[in-house]
Amino acid sequence: MLMKEKPIGIFDSGIGGLTVLRQVRREVPKEDIVYFGDTAHVPYGTKSKETITKFSVENVKFLQTFEVKAVVVACNTASSLSLDALKAMFSIPIIGVIEPGAKRALETTKNGRVGVIGTKATIHSGSYEACLKQLDPSVKVFSGACPLFVPLVEEGWLDGPVVSKVAHVYLDQLKSFKIDTLILGCTHYPLLAETIQKTIGPRVRLVNSAEETARQTRVMLDRLGLSDRRKDQQVELQKMRRRKDQQSTTFYVSDEPEQFRMLGERFLGQSIQSVAKVGDCFSYV
Ligand code: DGL
Repeated sequence: MLMKEKPIGIFDSGIGGLTVLRQVRREVPKEDIVYFGDTAHVPYGTKSKETITKFSVENVKFLQTFEVKAVVVACNTASSLSLDALKAMFSIPIIGVIEPGAKRALETTKNGRVGVIGTKATIHSGSYEACLKQLDPSVKVFSGACPLFVPLVEEGWLDGPVVSKVAHVYLDQLKSFKIDTLILGCTHYPLLAETIQKTIGPRVRLVNSAEETARQTRVMLDRLGLSDRRKDQQVELQKMRRRKDQQSTTFYVSDEPEQFRMLGERFLGQSIQSVAKVGDCFSYV
């Protein structure tokens, strides 16, 4: 098999990375994708750099067993704390979500005042702020951790009085800094976009890092000559025979596939037929 015919690997601490997968599939619909959610170790957002790096290295090693041609680190926390170590350790192209999100925010802001929200680990790492300032030293960055957003989303609480109250506690101060752009620096936050928008006000533009990450993934594959452009009849036929909503994505988790499958459909926006637990011989239907 040619390198360009191999799958792309995507990993996250769990389910949230499906919001990134969703965008990647839109951007490169012909690619095969292997998704790994490290559900045994989620959340990463409360853990140390050392631990997050250890898990991230294992995740890439697992994806390498599929001979992936590139890896997308969908998790903002893992991208913030382990991307440099991963790039130093592995020779395949690895792309994170921080730089794409920062770039999109700078293209969006008009007043140069950008807010960033994420997990505690992401915000304490200062990754978005450093990247934004490296790309544009004049930008003013205002950051805030929103640790309750992840469990709320995982429980399916996307709106209502409790979510609105929590959102106000986290976002009112950011609003007072007159930001005009807010980076949703966590895989789960796009699901709360409506509540966040209502709380922060209509004048603030929300930036979903996943969109730009997906675009940069396509550009990177093209640049490296790694885009899968097979168009011969056999491949087209094979793909048509696959389930329409599943095309060529396979899902692996390190714990509890059923929970992932059920919740995952909300993140992905479509049904998930099969999830395999790593270590099991296969397959959940
Ligand atoms: N995927 C994580 C992120 O984007 C959120 C969940 C976690 O804390 O592991 O930061």
